[in-house]
Amino acid sequence: MKALGIECTAHTLSIGVMDGGERLSNVIDTYSGGSEGLIPRKMADHHAECFARVLSQSLGDAGLAIRDIGLIAFSQGPGIGAPLSVGIAGAKYLALRHGKPLVGVNHCYAHVKISEHLCNMENPLALYLSGGNSQILLEDAENHYRVLGETLDIGIGNMFDSFARAIKMEQAHGGALSKLAEGGKYLPLPYSVKGMNLVFSGLLTAAEKAARTHPHRDVAYSLMETSFAMTCEVAERALYLTRKKSLVVCGGVAQNRRLQEMLRKMCAEDGVKFGVAPDEFNRDNGAMIAYAGSLLHRRYGPTPLEKCVPITNYRIDRMKEVLG
Ligand code: FE2
Repeated sequence: MKALGIECTAHTLSIGVMDGGERLSNVIDTYSGGSEGLIPRKMADHHAECFARVLSQSLGDAGLAIRDIGLIAFSQGPGIGAPLSVGIAGAKYLALRHGKPLVGVNHCYAHVKISEHLCNMENPLALYLSGGNSQILLEDAENHYRVLGETLDIGIGNMFDSFARAIKMEQAHGGALSKLAEGGKYLPLPYSVKGMNLVFSGLLTAAEKAARTHPHRDVAYSLMETSFAMTCEVAERALYLTRKKSLVVCGGVAQNRRLQEMLRKMCAEDGVKFGVAPDEFNRDNGAMIAYAGSLLHRRYGPTPLEKCVPITNYRIDRMKEVLG
């Protein structure tokens, strides 16, 4: 069945179409916010303004009309209420207007499932690293996800964005920060791992302080090296605990090539298969929502209309309770 997926948890509106495991389209439009940063209402306005264009481009790329679509899937959370509401309203309109089933999708679940699929892995240990989340995930025997370890304060991506803002970078995000970090020298920064959990706020504060007296390039490099090393340590501990022989990394921060290199090396040393999906699927994207929506529809059927509401704090380990 062809599924259309709408992604709208934060600053990106994306609409993608999947036919089972095949990507037919994936149009991504991201609101940058400029110097004023990301204001929720402005993200919502952006999504409302570009929804029709992104939809028609996505259907056009797929060579389909809305009547060819069998299922409308939408990102239900975790995310920011205002942009989520716009995406969900669009999904409801399409489903009701054209008589299609609707399926609400957990955003983290979608990242994990599309990555598993594209890396050709079955039930790997998953490392999910994004702006708001940093989690180690395991699917149990009943196909529910458990969080084995996670950040105890901020997400790793948020830490990079905050640091980039603190040193007044024009493009305040992790991608620009990793460019700045190229060729940097290592400075010792606090390393904070608690079992399989991570703590980033002390590291961020120390990096901001160091940036007052050291070259920004060296601090950016050290911040990334330290946080990636912490991440590798908790992933390796989880691999030993679970005896898993495959690891997938997903989410926005998974696009970082240095992190990929460190994880790949660690996995090679431990005899573990390592996988990461192409960048397009680690960005917030509609195709992964379409793919995950198809999986959930097969298992749980459509989401009742009254349950099609944003769940801003929708943790992956709450899916059982939400989907019942
Ligand atoms: Fe994401």
